[in-house]
Amino acid sequence: MANQPVPLLDLKAQYDSIRDEIEPLLKEVSESQWFIGGPQLDSFESAMADYCGTEHAVGCASGSDALLLSLMAAGVGQGDEVICPSYTFFATAGSIWRLGARPVWVDIDPVTYNCTPDLVRAAAAECNSLKAIMPVHLFGQTVDMDGMLELATELGVPIVEDAAQAIGSKDSTGAAAGSRGWTGCFSFFPSKNLGGFGDGGMITTNDAETAAHLRRLRNHGMEPKYYHREVGMNSRLDAMQAAVLNAKLPHLDKWSAGRAANADHYDQMFKDAGGADTSASLETATLPILVPARPAAPARHIFNQYVVRVPAAIRDDLRAHLVEHKVGHDVYYPVPLHRQECFADLPCSDMTFSDQAAAESIAIPIYAELIESQRTYVAETIVSFVQTHAPAGV
Ligand SMILES: Cc1ncc(COP(=O)(O)O)c(C=O)c1O
Repeated sequence: MANQPVPLLDLKAQYDSIRDEIEPLLKEVSESQWFIGGPQLDSFESAMADYCGTEHAVGCASGSDALLLSLMAAGVGQGDEVICPSYTFFATAGSIWRLGARPVWVDIDPVTYNCTPDLVRAAAAECNSLKAIMPVHLFGQTVDMDGMLELATELGVPIVEDAAQAIGSKDSTGAAAGSRGWTGCFSFFPSKNLGGFGDGGMITTNDAETAAHLRRLRNHGMEPKYYHREVGMNSRLDAMQAAVLNAKLPHLDKWSAGRAANADHYDQMFKDAGGADTSASLETATLPILVPARPAAPARHIFNQYVVRVPAAIRDDLRAHLVEHKVGHDVYYPVPLHRQECFADLPCSDMTFSDQAAAESIAIPIYAELIESQRTYVAETIVSFVQTHAPAGV
């Protein structure tokens, strides 16, 4: 097997393919010297609303700010509770905490890595001051939005969708991530399927008043100029980022399809070697490797990450083996939020599956420009290690 380095992500390969489309737009911004707001932002906001099938889209400085601004618009504050999964990126809960509110943890479904309406319902029953639900469409697969919306109506609270990893993902009704909640929050961090040349974020909503409120909040709560009814923040998607994203958006579906095709190839290779998908278990698979279970169409997984599971006892040794063989990888996430030091005082119910995923998961290269020999090398490097190191009885 060749010792062929495969990075976890290769942004340069993507850039090389669309350099000629990005550069004129960046030049246009430079020539106009219109860096905040302006035509690039306006056209990107309307393109994003079209893409997601929402009435409105409001740019902001990051996915973290999209979450924070949404919660501010929902009136979340001191002493309030917001339900979110423990197995997610820190920003999900950080946005809640920064407003003086308390994240209420829910565990995940081990098949999808997402929280479920049943788990949220159980957590809500313990809440005294629930103000919102913040489900996360983790790795690029949507949560059960039908169930989540029904529950939110029953509880009388809004859903703030953390769609940071799920742009273009579709739920079981074929609706886009971020289009059915009260707001949908997106990140354009460079590693996302639609990544900028720095930080950027977007909030989608179908509610005109909420969109207007978010536009004020992202600009210090100001309206009209120099008049402030409330305190907001400075959180804007700048024109350079909007120009890059305008150039990239038309390619997004093709890139996500490329990721899904790579996922098909990996699935096949791991399954041929005896692996199974996450609807099975490490104990029952012939070879203890689990690949992501796919949702049935019209749902669509956009594979922001392709995460495999191996027994916890060998996961970190596998990581060392991948470093040695120059295979890029990472663990999303090694420490679930209920175990973070800064949240040590928060109450916590059973988080078995979050803990298990943190100990067993490993994300491998999935970007669209991967070539067949790279995918084969990645899969073979993993399979041969698991075949020789899997603990007996697992
Ligand atoms: C699930 C999730 N939520 C929120 C964020 C925050 O987005 P950003 O990095 O743009 O602030 C991210 C980004 O990594 C994320 O993956």
